[in-house]
Amino acid sequence: MYAAVTLFVFMCLTATSHADHHHHPCHSPNMTGFMSVMTLKGEVRAHGAFTYDSMGKKLRFRSNESHPVNTSIGLDVLMFFEEGVFYEIDSKNQSCEKKALQCSIHPMDIPDDAKFHCAMNLGNPSIEGEGFKANVWTGDIPGKKGVYSMSVTMGCLPVSTIYFMDSTTILFSILDIENEIKDPDLLVVPSFCQGQPLEETPEGTVNTFYNEFI
Ligand SMILES: *[C@@H]1O[C@H](CO)[C@@H](O)[C@H](O)[C@H]1NC(C)=O
Ligand SMILES: *[C@@H]1O[C@H](CO)[C@@H](O)[C@H](O)[C@H]1NC(C)=O
Ligand SMILES: *[C@@H]1O[C@H](CO)[C@@H](O)[C@H](O)[C@H]1NC(C)=O
Ligand SMILES: *[C@@H]1O[C@H](CO)[C@@H](O)[C@H](O)[C@H]1NC(C)=O
Repeated sequence: MYAAVTLFVFMCLTATSHADHHHHPCHSPNMTGFMSVMTLKGEVRAHGAFTYDSMGKKLRFRSNESHPVNTSIGLDVLMFFEEGVFYEIDSKNQSCEKKALQCSIHPMDIPDDAKFHCAMNLGNPSIEGEGFKANVWTGDIPGKKGVYSMSVTMGCLPVSTIYFMDSTTILFSILDIENEIKDPDLLVVPSFCQGQPLEETPEGTVNTFYNEFI
């Protein structure tokens, strides 16, 4: 079960910290892979496949309901971070909702204003294939009392992101990445969603990618 392989790669010991505080966040490449989402209470919220376009800043995620977990939610979202809109898609029903995105943070890419926290070595880096090196970046969640922590590989592939908030803590694990977009059609607005009017955002609501899983 993918949810069980969640990696906790957030805490750093000073011994492995690097004094390089001046570098800027890297940006992940185009990707196809799997994502698993859980709360720290142990509820699996979703598991499914994603496609990410790093230049166009587009993300599609579809949860896979054939992975039976009680608390999971059926979800199919297509996010356009640059345009600040996203679609909640119901393919079975050929219907969708178009909403405004008020906050563009998401687990596939490090926000530009994130702070470098540390580099860490897991396993045994001196044995080929037995070590894993990750960089950890942190920052504040915009408009919320909360912080995030993201770990990425040396090549800037996302490993895990955790959002710590008052109300909940939610963990995203990214798995089985391939550095390409395998199906570009997944990043195109389905024909039945085209011309969809933008839904009104209720007062006080901040739409984000992570909110879709809460
Ligand atoms: C990433 O995917 C987009 C959309 O398919 C494409 O335009 C872009 O060239 C790709 N970037 C790289 C580095 O392959
Ligand atoms: C869902 O998971 C099943 C079993 O792992 C797999 O066969 C199927 O292709 C997946 N469906 C989607 C839409 O990812
Ligand atoms: C899932 O729901 C069933 C029926 O409500 C319950 O018996 C079972 O314990 C639940 N499993 C988990 C993992 O929560
Ligand atoms: C189909 O969409 C309508 C309205 O968009 C919704 O009320 C209904 O519950 C949906 N049906 C299913 C089976 O999801």
